[in-house]
This record gives sequence, C-alpha cells and structure tokens, in this order.
Amino acid sequence: MKKILVAHDGSKLSDKALKKAVEMAIRYGSNLTVLTVIPDLYLTELSDLDRTRIMDALTEETTMFMEKIRAALAAKSVESKTITRQGMPAEKILETAKKMKVDVIVVGSHGRHGAKKFLMGSVSSKVIEYATCPVLVVK
Ligand SMILES: Nc1ncnc2c1ncn2[C@@H]1O[C@H](COP(=O)(O)OP(=O)(O)OP(=O)(O)O)[C@@H](O)[C@H]1O
Ligand SMILES: [Mg+2]
Repeated sequence: MKKILVAHDGSKLSDKALKKAVEMAIRYGSNLTVLTVIPDLYLTELSDLDRTRIMDALTEETTMFMEKIRAALAAKSVESKTITRQGMPAEKILETAKKMKVDVIVVGSHGRHGAKKFLMGSVSSKVIEYATCPVLVVK
C-alpha cells in the first residue's frame, strides 16, 4: 500500500479517518495525502458581496485547519502532504485519487452536516459508488 488519500472536511469524523490513515501509513510505510475541498456555493440568491464574504470565511477556516494538520503530520514519521482544491467535494476526491493512482481512499462515514439518520453522507456515498480503488469508511 504505497499511497493513501484521506478526505478531510474539518469534521471530527474526518479527524478520526485521518488518525486511522496515519496508523496505516506508519504500518505500511505509505505516502499520505490529506485533501480538503472548499465547496462551490450554489445559492443563487446570494449577492456577489455575500458570496465573496462566505468564500473568504470558508477559505480562511480551511487554511487554518489544514495548517494544523500539516504541522501535526510533520511531527510524525510519515511522508505526507496536504492539498486544498475548490469545487464539488466528491468529484475532486475521485479526480485526485485517479490522478495520483492511490491505493486507498479514507473517508469518514459522515462529515460536517452530520445528518446521522442516514447511513452515510452524500460525499462518502458518492466516493464509494464511483471510486475505482478500495475505500475505507471510518465511523
Ligand atoms: N469538502 C470536503 N473535502 C474533503 N473531504 C470531504 C468533504 N466533504 C466531505 N468529505 C469527506 O466525506 C466524509 C463524509 O462527509 P459527507 O459530506 O458525505 O457527510 P455529511 O457532511 O454528514 O452530509 P452531507 O454533506 O451529505 O449533508 C467526511 O468525513 C470526509 O472524509
Ligand atoms: Mg458534508
């Protein structure tokens, strides 16, 4: 298992997924990539100003938690990198996995919205449905 891709949305469960992925990377000597996707905003009723403000806030928040992750990983004996993309989360996760030819994608069963009555969130469901490599769902 050479390459592991973890999808992180800043939620507790994706932190748990990251922890699992770090364990695996240590055990198998794998390369670890942590990917977060800043989602596109589809709310058409937003003014351009509101859209910019929301995007700025999301970007700032994402930069902060990804920096924390980067620093935490640097302290571990794992080869790792963090990447941030913008767009549709599931699409970007799948695209990155394909491009990097990863051996496994690690996701949380739920994310930030956490409607726990569903078995899984929409992003993890889509990743499982369309991935061409194994997917580990952490719950
Ligand atoms: N924007 C994102 N960037 C990277 N990974 C993500 C992103 N959103 C979700 N994920 C990954 O998918 C997992 C499940 O999150 P998902 O978004 O499917 O559930 P949810 O937020 O509870 O529900 P939903 O978004 O469908 O309302 C997360 O733990 C994370 O691993
Ligand atoms: Mg979500």
